[in-house]
Amino acid sequence: MITLALSKGRIFEETLPLLAAAGIEVTEDPETSRKLILPTTRADVRVVLVRATDVPTYVAHGGADIGVAGKDILIEYAGDNGGNDGLYQPLDLNIAKCRMSVAVRADFDYEAAVKQGSRIRVATKYTTIAREHFANKGVHVDLIKLYGSMELAPLTGLADAIVDLVSTGNTLKANNLVEVEQIMLISSRLVVNQAALKLNREPIRALIKAFESAIPK
Ligand code: PRP
Repeated sequence: MITLALSKGRIFEETLPLLAAAGIEVTEDPETSRKLILPTTRADVRVVLVRATDVPTYVAHGGADIGVAGKDILIEYAGDNGGNDGLYQPLDLNIAKCRMSVAVRADFDYEAAVKQGSRIRVATKYTTIAREHFANKGVHVDLIKLYGSMELAPLTGLADAIVDLVSTGNTLKANNLVEVEQIMLISSRLVVNQAALKLNREPIRALIKAFESAIPK
């Protein structure tokens, strides 16, 4: 049995065509089903639904053999684990694309704050990415860890800036925030448990190959 860990939403939806290329169809809809283990048209493949941040944990510890996770999640996971995630990452799937950016209130002069060398208060869920970005720029920051609704932080005075994912930019716009710096482009990767690959080499290799053939341009 091959267990594939996916998170609901964009990653699940955009992984379906890749599964189809491997001849696999998920036979239950996660939006209507309450099940967390979804069967597929292949008796030896099942999908487990987990939180996006839990995908690397499931795969690294063998709760799943393979998984799909955003580069953002993988960098943060490695950061939380001393820089070593123990995961084999054979493919950039080029799905669930967005960017990691710095955003501030429209009336906050980010460039001036950076130039003056003032300490900037930055709220984010992505502390590893943010720490590295500002360290590389030589900008002093106080990082404030949040778990969601980052956009609220500059609006309430909790922080001067946020580091968050931007896709359409609609969330920033709706909250009067502006993107002042792009840190990196984000897409989802295939991650594989190294021991599972050794034990179940052929079926997992075949799956990786099928996924590879269907990566969107
Ligand atoms: C992300 C991000 C922003 C939003 C950006 O949240 O945190 O809030 O998407 O998208 P936009 O530029 O298209 O408006 P997501 O919906 O992934 O959920 P999260 O808050 O749990 O991270």
